[in-house]
Amino acid sequence: MKKLYFIIFVLFSNQISFAQLIVTGLKTEGRTNPVGLDISKPRFSWVLESSKRNVKQTAYELSVRADNKVTWSSGKISSEISVHVPYSGSALEPGKRYSWQVKVWDNQGSKMASSTEASFHTALFKPETEMVAKWISSGLQADTVYGVVPQFRKSFSTSKKIKSATAFITAKGLYEAEINGKRIGDAFLTPGWTTYDKRLLYQTYDVTQLLISGKNAVGVSLANGWFRGELGWEKKANTYGKQTALLFQLNINYSDGTREIIISDDSWKVSPSPMLSSEIYDGEVYDARLEQIGWATSSFDDSKWTKVQVKDFAKNILFASNHELITKHETFKPVKVLTTPQGETVLDFGQNLVGWVQMKISGSSGNKIVLSHAEILDKYGNLYFDNLRNAKAQDTYIMKGGGVETYEPHFTFHGFRYVRVEGISGTVDPDNFTAIALYSDMKATGKFECSNALVNQLQKNIQWSQRGNFLDVPTDCPQRDERLGWTGDAEVFSRTAAYNFNVNNFFAKWLKDVAAEQYPNGAIPFVIPDILKGSFFGRPESAAGWSDADVIIPWNMYVAYGDKRIVEEQYPSMKAYVDYIRKAAKNDLWNTGFQFGDWLSYRVDDSKGMIGQKSAVTDNYLVTQCFYAYVVDLMAKSARLLGKADEVKDYEALAERIRKAFQQEYVTPGGRLISETQTAYVLALQFDMLPENLRSAATKRLVENIKSYNYHLTTGFLGTPFLTSCLTRFGEMETAYKLLLQDTYPSWLFPVKMGATTIWERWDSQKPDSTFQDPSMTSFNHYSYGAVGDWMYRSIAGIDTKEEGAGYKEIIIKPFPGGGLTSASGSIETYYGKIGAAWKIDGNKFSLSLEVPANTSATVYIPVKGSQQKITEGGAVLASSNGIQVQEDEKGFKVIKIGSGKYDFMVEE
Ligand code: BGC
Repeated sequence: MKKLYFIIFVLFSNQISFAQLIVTGLKTEGRTNPVGLDISKPRFSWVLESSKRNVKQTAYELSVRADNKVTWSSGKISSEISVHVPYSGSALEPGKRYSWQVKVWDNQGSKMASSTEASFHTALFKPETEMVAKWISSGLQADTVYGVVPQFRKSFSTSKKIKSATAFITAKGLYEAEINGKRIGDAFLTPGWTTYDKRLLYQTYDVTQLLISGKNAVGVSLANGWFRGELGWEKKANTYGKQTALLFQLNINYSDGTREIIISDDSWKVSPSPMLSSEIYDGEVYDARLEQIGWATSSFDDSKWTKVQVKDFAKNILFASNHELITKHETFKPVKVLTTPQGETVLDFGQNLVGWVQMKISGSSGNKIVLSHAEILDKYGNLYFDNLRNAKAQDTYIMKGGGVETYEPHFTFHGFRYVRVEGISGTVDPDNFTAIALYSDMKATGKFECSNALVNQLQKNIQWSQRGNFLDVPTDCPQRDERLGWTGDAEVFSRTAAYNFNVNNFFAKWLKDVAAEQYPNGAIPFVIPDILKGSFFGRPESAAGWSDADVIIPWNMYVAYGDKRIVEEQYPSMKAYVDYIRKAAKNDLWNTGFQFGDWLSYRVDDSKGMIGQKSAVTDNYLVTQCFYAYVVDLMAKSARLLGKADEVKDYEALAERIRKAFQQEYVTPGGRLISETQTAYVLALQFDMLPENLRSAATKRLVENIKSYNYHLTTGFLGTPFLTSCLTRFGEMETAYKLLLQDTYPSWLFPVKMGATTIWERWDSQKPDSTFQDPSMTSFNHYSYGAVGDWMYRSIAGIDTKEEGAGYKEIIIKPFPGGGLTSASGSIETYYGKIGAAWKIDGNKFSLSLEVPANTSATVYIPVKGSQQKITEGGAVLASSNGIQVQEDEKGFKVIKIGSGKYDFMVEE
């Protein structure tokens, strides 16, 4: 009986503490149980959950174990820090699984809660010596650009009981590996794309479950990919070398403590695979008749296969993938099977996406099925391929016959909504086709919704363009013969990207390539990885708004994730870049060299007469100067963050001189800018280029300009991201809403009205008369103009972070209802947990519901019309109590500070 009471007591008391505090969401380097980190001091984050309000962590105790031994115990640390806590124990060993747990005390009676266990698996720390595998190449004559994809194999035996097995794999090219006929891992297009000549990433896989005792086999296919395949509009091949190669190592730990290593070496065999060719832009040709059943299993007879060639390629450029790899995500069935006026059979998947199509078909041997991918139908209903330029975007499958065959390509990807099917006799059954979206496995974090269906579709389009263009590298577009890491596009979109998905590691990885590609003079190339070297764009010069990604993105990542290390690691590159600009500038005016300026801004010729207005061309160097100031401001902030007081002073003084130079060169004494465009005024206002006394007149001019275009925007890549934010900041929210809700060209909602399911490259990629823009540069999946997204989260839903409490440790909630919207809501999953904000207008009542995660606080700006309005929270008159502190009012807002928890505010007449 006593025992029963005890059990009930334990259960009950657990439940109480359960209700009060749970520690969950354990992340190592922002990921859940990552495998393959080569970071010597990985950082840990955890989430506190509590049903109480105002919860803050007061202390934590973290312990890390491996092989049942503690490698680090922090001891009880009095601290609020629950995000990015670095490992500080004894040196981590390579290729090992570590587990960790954290105990947390809070300020609500200091109840202690223990997390469940999380893990991380290290990669190699010294790959030059720890990677003993040898580079191998096929030596096959047909193994060339557009040539056959070789497949490699090796059998081996394991003699003892296996405790764990870890594979480390990379390639000069793209690889897919199997053990005993089973795929290793769920990542595609590995090893991803980096500056291969300086940084080649290898992947680490826990393959314990794939091995069997006795005979085993490993098989690997190796394609050209970004390494050797054609890249860029000039379709240049062999960018990183003429020879593809594989590096494979399998470390097996036996239960008796012994170890065995299986490596790629001259004992491997090679043969052509059924992939007759597989190229990023052009697609794959697969002849199923050439399949060799069981080629990656131990019973396969490889006596007819040839010996591989061992190569002496470098290993000192190897690094682990610490970021999320490309994996499969959403799948789509055709929503329609169309017969076009040209008589073609076309599947419509209903969504412009990036990935490929899997098909299940039966037919006779030698039958050829060809799938051709396109983004859009022309005004007559025929497929439009011209905008793909020289990318074939075509997968060809030759059937082996004799039953149902399932095929999907391996080493390519396409940007498409529509697929033309050729080679199927009789009717095409849509059920046999599935479109699969492939993108970097960044976790979805943000949701935004409001009462306007078109805006909701815009939000969906932004997210789909992000999915489609975050394929290991942030690309401009995913469909034509380009698909490059254009720095400007990534720069303008990075903050929006960080609302929608967790892109912390994605950008940390890419920024390392940005730094690696920096020219000795400090200039940052326009695309990263820089495949344009040696071409016009490959000069050691930089362009404002593009190369500035080097400074702007690390800072944006710091703001969004509180990730100081990203700034620390990037800082030398940032500094060298700004030194480059300093030299390029004369008397603090950056007015030299090639500049993209406000790329793709409105031009009358684009869609003639639509709004009967003049083109909106902003002086390139005016734009350049504004970005110069912006970047130097961020340098000052970054230097302050890193405690570099002298450099803070230097950058602040430089920023002041840059602004003075701007005022002398581009502003009349009356405050008029030399370019009377929206972009000119937006940038001048946004980056504080004008003295205070000229700002309200400049705002008026901006609004007048917008009115003169009948509330259409005319901004290009560099003006657009700041347009609505700037209007909000200067009290012109209604104008911002009018621009957002405009649905005729040029506007954000015009493409939505035209049926877009992704963001277009141009405001009129498809014109109002349904014809297309110049096919030489008309993408239907280009995220840059989606850079309005962060403003939608920040100013419509109202969720933001303070820079001094970066990563949403100190949250700002400041919604601006307007534009006739009756409701809006947003949420983001941060490292602290979920932030939610939802408002609704119902007659005279305005309600605002908030969710603030534990261990954070929020400054809330409740929109009010006047002081006579009654404000309640949870039904009680608003007062400083129960997690709420009332602050001083701000024009149009009741300001309060709140701790964590859920709140329901109501404002009534
Ligand atoms: C890309 C852009 C890029 C631009 C630079 C284009 O071809 O698609 O998005 O930023 O070139 O001029």
